[in-house]
Amino acid sequence: MPVAIVVGVQWGDEGKGKVVDFIAERSKLVVRFQGGNNAGHTVIVDGRKTALKLIPSGILHPDTRCLLASGVVLDPEGLLSELDGLAKLDIDVGPKRFGIAPEVILILPYHKAIDTERENRQSEGDCRIGTTGRGIGPAYEDAASRYGIRLADLYDTANLESLVRRNVRDKNVYLREVLGSKIQFDADELLQSLQTLGERLRPYLANVSLEVSRANESDEYVLFEGAQGCLLDISHGTYPFVTSSNTVAAYACVSAGLGPREVDMVIGICKAYSTRVGGGPFPTEDLSADGDRLREIGREFGTVTGRPRRCGWLDSMAVRRAVRLNGIDSLVVTKLDVLDTFPVIRIATGYKLDGRPLDDLPVTTTETEQIEVIYEELPGWQQDTSAVRSYEDLPKEAKSLLERIGVISGCTISGFSVGPDRSQTVITDERLLELQRSGRLP
Ligand code: GDP
Ligand code: IMO
Ligand code: MG
Repeated sequence: MPVAIVVGVQWGDEGKGKVVDFIAERSKLVVRFQGGNNAGHTVIVDGRKTALKLIPSGILHPDTRCLLASGVVLDPEGLLSELDGLAKLDIDVGPKRFGIAPEVILILPYHKAIDTERENRQSEGDCRIGTTGRGIGPAYEDAASRYGIRLADLYDTANLESLVRRNVRDKNVYLREVLGSKIQFDADELLQSLQTLGERLRPYLANVSLEVSRANESDEYVLFEGAQGCLLDISHGTYPFVTSSNTVAAYACVSAGLGPREVDMVIGICKAYSTRVGGGPFPTEDLSADGDRLREIGREFGTVTGRPRRCGWLDSMAVRRAVRLNGIDSLVVTKLDVLDTFPVIRIATGYKLDGRPLDDLPVTTTETEQIEVIYEELPGWQQDTSAVRSYEDLPKEAKSLLERIGVISGCTISGFSVGPDRSQTVITDERLLELQRSGRLP
């Protein structure tokens, strides 16, 4: 059972990093396959918190090698400061532990400027996406229009100079003339800084496709870590309120250069309620005091931008869609403890539009904002679950909630978590347990 993919089934921040950390112990490789430092993954081990953005959440296991595959967009300065931060925590982030595909597209300062200047301009209307301002969209645009500068280009100096000069010239015109911005860039300065950054990143260059393929052939475990969530997928999410990459599991194969038949398992991470950061439709958003309580108890504030997350109830229409789009085998339900004090727990079981039931999410924002959500209510357990370490020890109402999520999402529940610490994750499914070294279970 060597190749597994972990993805978020909602709008991100489901606890993917925490689950990847938990099951990565036995993996030879943990591979990030899309997105960039717009992601924020918090892992807590024995009370010690590590906030990861780009570096895969397998980094806390000393025998695991972490890789960034070609579909990632890489902010060199962001990455180096993350590496430095981990080194300060005595985490080994040398080239034996971490590698980067040379094909990754670089996020450069003009991408970040375009991202934030566009968002500032859009704030006048209601089409503001609420991006993380990390330059993700503009970098993926350059990739698609073949304007991108790849990590490998930093080592092809003759070619690099003409790429940088052309891009800086064009981006300056765009910033000034189209976005009305005062921010302008200097090609010589950028070239100089890229030279320094390139030298620091050189030891990390890795043939990710070959490494993944060799590990797979030797029956070693390879774990792919998704960022964001299914509803932020550029093709299948709530477009245009999405990120600029494909977040679904199939993209792991595209990004790492792995055939789709090599994947053995897809694990979906599902928060026991829903959250979303930024703009866009959110059918089960709760704007009442319950939404505020979910935010406070669940500490729903973005890891990257610190913004309060919008909160609401579990949406089984969204989860069912994610199960189908990703080919999910099983779900791990996180943050069950956040519901500990709620007397009633709501789950959306269906949607109606103009009085007619829907089979799936509508495609347009206008329709998605008009849907009527059908809820069912389950009794809460109103007791502390944070010390629970087995399914059997959960209150019966919590077991019923997990069972109900399984039925309405059409998916096996392979585990749950009752707190942010590694020790508060409980995996119950044998196939998933196989990913973990025996003897390490709670
Ligand atoms: P990711 O982006 O999917 O990796 O998720 P984030 O790390 O951005 O957000 C999840 C947040 O919830 C983090 O602050 C975690 O420490 C925290 N968390 C994860 N699992 C649990 C849980 O079971 N209970 C509680 N209370 N917090 C959790
Ligand atoms: P993790 O991996 C939650 C959201 C942003 C914005 C939209 C587009 O921690 O789950 P972008 O900067 O990507 O162009 O912003 O996507 N977003 C996330 N929301 N978790 C994330 O990552 C996110 N990454 C991007 O808030 O709405
Ligand atoms: Mg996050």
